[in-house]
Amino acid sequence: MMISDKKKTIMSGIQPTGVFSLGNYIGAIKNWKKLQEDYKCLYFIANLHSLTVRMDPEKLKKLTLDCVAMLLACGVDVEKSLVFIQSQVPEHSQLSWVLQCYTQFGELSRMTQFKDKSLKNSDNINAGLFGYPVLMAADILIYQSDFVPIGADQKQHLEITRDIANRFNNLYGQTFKLPQPYVSELGDRVMSLADPTSKMSKSDKNKNGFISILDPPDDIINKFKKAVTDSEARIYYSPDKPGISNLLAIYSALSDLGVEEVERKFESKGYGDFKVAVGELVAKTLAPIQDQYYHLVKDRGELARICEKGAEVASEMARKTLRSVYEKLGIL
Ligand code: TYM
Repeated sequence: MMISDKKKTIMSGIQPTGVFSLGNYIGAIKNWKKLQEDYKCLYFIANLHSLTVRMDPEKLKKLTLDCVAMLLACGVDVEKSLVFIQSQVPEHSQLSWVLQCYTQFGELSRMTQFKDKSLKNSDNINAGLFGYPVLMAADILIYQSDFVPIGADQKQHLEITRDIANRFNNLYGQTFKLPQPYVSELGDRVMSLADPTSKMSKSDKNKNGFISILDPPDDIINKFKKAVTDSEARIYYSPDKPGISNLLAIYSALSDLGVEEVERKFESKGYGDFKVAVGELVAKTLAPIQDQYYHLVKDRGELARICEKGAEVASEMARKTLRSVYEKLGIL
């Protein structure tokens, strides 16, 4: 594969903790597909990040390649983008150790995701969970990335990445490019259908709140029919109407219509009709992705080969940054 050096670099990752959610798709992967047309793109499965919570090793192994198939099914094209697995490019972990020594306890303590996850996993608040954003900073900085397409929940991690990079550059001279988040205006935070005040998450225990990209069409439509909304009947976007606003954002993201256009389209309709229409649009969008997925996931040898090839190229790029960091620090 040819990767032109003139193009700006895009990089992003996803954890293999489960089947991707509609939130992952709308908030991140839909953009990954779009960006690969004009940028040099690197997309990876963040399996090392998944060690911060306990996972069955066989399940993690299986899900890692399943997730590669999901990425490809969602439109990531290995002819245009590098696809690899985080653990197969050891330079990420090597840089992460260095960056930990340039990250303060205080700033990591302020990360909202650390606080949330500590509450959820109170019996296992491990050092990896605490240092999680530093490994993420290493993932990004090692490729001199320009933009990082993510959902809103990862923005704080990108801010700390920039802080760490800045600190290092100030001490040792220009070493890391400062990356910028690439976040959709709408759909950067897809909310749970069962509780529209909390984020839709692939590890959600309430299956009604969560749409996975592999849910069968009938399940999808039923979950949307049950989506929690307020009691008013008019369909409009407003911060104090999180339920209906979430549905409008989903419809808008998948139809490429602006929210106002969607409001106008459903002007004369009630909540019931609108919920079915959103469910149908989601099911229609996901149907070809599901077909592709079930086809691709069968050839695990090919998925593994794609990742190994991707890791080789990524590793070569990553080594350049790591070498310059080690040199600056006097690490032999
Ligand atoms: P992860 O696996 O939790 O999520 C992958 C991507 O999906 C986005 N996302 C959402 N967007 C909108 N609405 C939602 N409900 C929603 N849920 C998830 C996330 O913002 C993310 O962009 N730490 C990262 C993985 C990672 C990474 C990186 C990302 C590791 N290293 C370097 C970018 C660059 C994570 O856990 O994402």
